[in-house]
Amino acid sequence: MQVLVMSMVKYAVGIIGCGGIASSHIQGWLDTGSAEIVAVADIDLAKAEALASKFSVERFYGDYVEMLKRESIDFISICTWAQTHAEITVKAAESSVKGVLCEKPMAVSLGEANMMVEVCDRHGVKLAIRHQRRFHPVHLSVKEFLSKGRLGKPLLAHGRREDGLLNNGSHMINTVRFWLGDPEPEWVIGQVERKTDRYERGIPIEDLCVGLVSFKDGVKLLIEMDTPITYKLEWFYVVLECTEGLLIVTDEEAKVLSSEGWSKLRPVEDKTTEFSQLIDWVEGKVNMHRSSSYQSRIDMEIMMAIYESSRLRSLVRMPLKTLENPLFTMIKNGELKVEKHGRYDIRLPREMWNLLKPP
Ligand SMILES: NC(=O)c1ccc[n+]([C@@H]2O[C@H](COP(=O)([O-])OP(=O)(O)OC[C@H]3O[C@@H](n4cnc5c(N)ncnc54)[C@H](O)[C@@H]3O)[C@@H](O)[C@H]2O)c1
Repeated sequence: MQVLVMSMVKYAVGIIGCGGIASSHIQGWLDTGSAEIVAVADIDLAKAEALASKFSVERFYGDYVEMLKRESIDFISICTWAQTHAEITVKAAESSVKGVLCEKPMAVSLGEANMMVEVCDRHGVKLAIRHQRRFHPVHLSVKEFLSKGRLGKPLLAHGRREDGLLNNGSHMINTVRFWLGDPEPEWVIGQVERKTDRYERGIPIEDLCVGLVSFKDGVKLLIEMDTPITYKLEWFYVVLECTEGLLIVTDEEAKVLSSEGWSKLRPVEDKTTEFSQLIDWVEGKVNMHRSSSYQSRIDMEIMMAIYESSRLRSLVRMPLKTLENPLFTMIKNGELKVEKHGRYDIRLPREMWNLLKPP
């Protein structure tokens, strides 16, 4: 008897940007069991070729626009530097794709983030931003625990990270908001220092900054980026103070201090991933993606408000009206004087700087 093996692959995926993070996107799509990678693109053709060969992808391009024109693609992963995310999202939405998974940070200004949401909505394209902690067992356990109100009311989340607000601060803001049920910000106050000519993957960033965010339900987030330290904590470390106890959350575990003493939350296993949920969203099986662009747009608004607060030397009430990046504005206007000259990039080697477009 002849057995017919039906292929489960339903969707064609294209990858734009073939550097460090791209492999995890390819694997993520393949793991869904219903997607195949049909082509990859990078301005550095050798990188596109190397990635295509690593995953046996048939076609590779040096120009993603060409790839969008020639290929029939359902989903796009954007794995390029943040200053290109808006432009590429718009071009992808204007092609025939159904869904876009764009790497964090969503963009480099609120105006860009707004445009990405607006263009994707107009074309009926689903846009998710890759903040993977929304699918992570420890962070899911924190969200579930807090939703039961077991520690009373959350009051203040406090965390510190390194390597730039947009880069790693975006993860922290996104994750804390996820635990808390995605509250909207009411006001923000912040301070920024930039005395060295510091960049991250081609984007000018601050040397350090601090932001206090008050959400509409009264809970606050205090975020420190690159502040001086005397001891180093975990890569992701946030303390959440509640009226009846506190939580200490890292990527490895969530510890709870309540009137009964210390305990650990049991991680919540969930097979859903950023990739499978984008497919489900496109197919109408879920109403919303956990890491949708609508939430990342709000994270962008918070980060830009921290910069704007420093620029205006005042508290900023939301919604933020400033569409351009206030850090870029301050740099351009000479409001943040570089004292130690010499451009450096904390991620991108000097030999790649010639590939960058000015932000
Ligand atoms: N979610 C996470 O935890 C996580 C981790 C690492 C990186 N990232 C994000 O992923 C993005 C890429 O980071 P990376 O570490 O892979 O950088 P990378 O420098 O290793 O790779 C980026 C690639 O994009 C290519 N590129 C740039 N502009 C392009 C364009 N217009 N068209 C086609 N290709 C272009 C570059 O040539 C490069 O090969 C960044 O936004 C970064 O913040 C996210």
